[in-house]
Amino acid sequence: MAIERTLSIIKPDATRRNLTGQIIARFEEKGLRVVASKRIKLSQAQAEGFYAVHKERSFFGELVEYMMSEPVVVQVLEGENAILANREIMGATNPANADEGTIRKDFAVDVQENSVHGSDAPETAAEEIAYFFSACEIVG
Ligand code: TYD
Repeated sequence: MAIERTLSIIKPDATRRNLTGQIIARFEEKGLRVVASKRIKLSQAQAEGFYAVHKERSFFGELVEYMMSEPVVVQVLEGENAILANREIMGATNPANADEGTIRKDFAVDVQENSVHGSDAPETAAEEIAYFFSACEIVG
């Protein structure tokens, strides 16, 4: 089992509904540790840069507007197979397809307002962590 780090974002629909603590508890209950955390309001440039991979998609403009609409909580989670473990805790992108007991099944509004982001692979995890945190802000 590899100890990994992954980037998590608690998205605007969740911060708006005061669900931050309940979502962090899901990570901790499943053995992930929060090793970096900050609450920020994304600028347009920050939101566009973070989701640049989706810039040709029809939903890009709306996604960026939504991500800027309320504060987000960006975190680095650490643990055994943290990248996949976090994706399992989150559930499918569209909450209609998410398994019982996942964050998205229990909290997400719809496919856009889906409460959480989690890196999907080691390369993207490294890039996304570096997008928001410097090395000295991550304390394992
Ligand atoms: P994606 O990387 O496919 O999913 P995930 O967040 O599970 O890694 O999509 C990124 C985000 O884009 C997704 O969380 C919400 C938004 N999105 C939409 O708004 N509409 C859509 O149809 C899709 C597929 C994604």
